[in-house]
Amino acid sequence: MEYIGATGKPVTFDEVPIKDGIDFHFILSFAIDADASGTPQNGNFKPYWSPTLTADAVAAVKSKHTNVKALASLSGWSLGSTTLRWYTPENNQIWIANAFKSLKSIIETYHLDGIDVDYENFPKHNESFSYCIGELITYLKNQSVISVATISPYRLTTIPYIQLFDAYGDVIDYVNHQFYTDKVRTTEAYLEDFRLRTTEFAGEKVLPSYEIDGRGIQGDAFFDALRVLMENGFDINGIMLYSVDASAYTNLTRRFYYEVKSQEFLLNFTII
Ligand SMILES: *[C@@H]1O[C@H](CO)[C@@H](O)[C@H](O)[C@H]1NC(C)=O
Ligand SMILES: *[C@@H]1O[C@H](CO)[C@@H](O)[C@H](O)[C@H]1NC(C)=O
Ligand SMILES: *[C@@H]1O[C@H](CO)[C@@H](O)[C@H](O)[C@H]1NC(C)=O
Repeated sequence: MEYIGATGKPVTFDEVPIKDGIDFHFILSFAIDADASGTPQNGNFKPYWSPTLTADAVAAVKSKHTNVKALASLSGWSLGSTTLRWYTPENNQIWIANAFKSLKSIIETYHLDGIDVDYENFPKHNESFSYCIGELITYLKNQSVISVATISPYRLTTIPYIQLFDAYGDVIDYVNHQFYTDKVRTTEAYLEDFRLRTTEFAGEKVLPSYEIDGRGIQGDAFFDALRVLMENGFDINGIMLYSVDASAYTNLTRRFYYEVKSQEFLLNFTII
């Protein structure tokens, strides 16, 4: 799965190479509970991903590749210059109802299959996060609005995500832990970190992740790390990449290198 559209650059689904025989999830970044100035809207989400990622574009890539799914990622780090954060709703039930209604509309309009949860900043008291997000996912799933839900913790946000996962793990399909925030740059360190994250969250749902032109382990060492994980008995049930925006604008010889190689890796080495 790969994030797309967070930078506002004119990225497209079509330029991403997609192989058959394996699911490819595009994670549209981001749907945000805020107006354009960043003011919270009590659960009323709006899409803020790159305007090139239209509803027709989602429909087109899904009809061209039946193995493509598309998710809306909730929140992200910032909107313009405003840092986004989880906030305690005045009334949890109203927040959940507003979130359900606004996301259902976005999901239907854009032909999406699910949501990803990517809140990155939390207040000291964040107990409402687990309840509101867990109930929201449960409700979206039991009304068949979505079929996939993923969460995206990073180094400093594991506590609220573990609370969410402990209470609502049954409705969460994958954990896109942001390993590139963990300052691990070697295969050995990646293995130890993966061991830690799979104890925090149910092992088989945690996906290894890679930031293109970014932090953490870089280059082919990432694929070496994946082999080391497998040699140590871990299942690799997918890979999360961040992001299409980075890949589309990287050095010409490296464009979509990690997308192609990740899909080859999963097709070569995992039982589907
Ligand atoms: C979330 O709440 C817990 C319990 O109050 C607290 O320990 C933690 O620092 C809070 N924030 C984050 C980002 O974990
Ligand atoms: C769907 O999920 C919501 C939120 O947890 C719950 O209130 C409701 O009872 C569930 N409905 C069904 C039919 O399971
Ligand atoms: C996958 O297998 C093919 C054929 O054996 C090989 O050429 C390719 O390098 C492998 N790719 C990865 C990422 O393991």
